[in-house]
Amino acid sequence: MTSPALQVSELTKDFGGLRAVDGISFSVGAGEFVGLIGPNGCGKSTTFNCISGLLESTSGSVEVFGQDVTDSRADQIQAFGLTRTFQHTRLWREMTVIENLLVPPRDQFAPNLIISLLRPSTRKAEKQRLINAYEVLEMLEIEHMAHNLASELSGGQSKLVDIGRALMSSPRVLLLDEPVAGVAGPLAEKIFQNLRTLTSERNIGMLVIEHNMDFILRTGVDRIIVVDVGRILMEGNPDEVRQNQDVIEAYLGDT
Ligand SMILES: Nc1ncnc2c1ncn2[C@@H]1O[C@H](COP(=O)(O)OP(=O)(O)OP(=O)(O)O)[C@@H](O)[C@H]1O
Ligand SMILES: [Mg+2]
Repeated sequence: MTSPALQVSELTKDFGGLRAVDGISFSVGAGEFVGLIGPNGCGKSTTFNCISGLLESTSGSVEVFGQDVTDSRADQIQAFGLTRTFQHTRLWREMTVIENLLVPPRDQFAPNLIISLLRPSTRKAEKQRLINAYEVLEMLEIEHMAHNLASELSGGQSKLVDIGRALMSSPRVLLLDEPVAGVAGPLAEKIFQNLRTLTSERNIGMLVIEHNMDFILRTGVDRIIVVDVGRILMEGNPDEVRQNQDVIEAYLGDT
């Protein structure tokens, strides 16, 4: 049997006496688009921080395509193909949008940067990166902002550039923390549709945190994991989530 893109098993994270993540287990398959939803403070971002190696988990394990990365450093986990974005976007504010996308990932160049840049193969690779960057901006519908400084962008636009940066690393597993927060409704839906297509086309394991239940239910994700106080309340496809009694009581009201 092939391993899932991401396997999280019994993941727990304590901050002193506070158990922020309480024995969470789930998987995301390659080519699967999964939503992670739950109320403020229920442990969604902490789950991302543990998976991506930013925080050391208290117990449990994380595997990326069958590779145990539980005790690996964040940069090692990224090298296995897992990329994540942060809830609070961090762009290079004095650089343009396109420059933000083109900042090379670590270890892209040989130790001598100048010699590396002069090599024809490097120039070709850089040209390809530029083409990729414009394709990514087009997909996110912000290609007209390519030469704007990041400091000029709205919160929603910054979020989109941040997704773009994550996509530039050609991730095999992509974790997006509230990627469309602050993005106007119709555009947010379009971006989700485009991410859906990309997930299938590139066979990415995609896990997206979203805080709006109505929104996630109509965006065509394959599966939704509903978290409450550090635990999984339920998981299922959008129809199953819509009909789940616990979810109805917690989110949807008894209409
Ligand atoms: N570094 C930290 N140190 C101590 N407590 C933390 C830390 N990070 C998160 N917490 C706490 O852990 C709990 C879960 O926080 P987390 O940020 O994971 O929630 P969330 O589901 O992402 O919430 P939101 O929807 O507001 O983004 C909260 O009670 C939070 O205050
Ligand atoms: Mg969060």
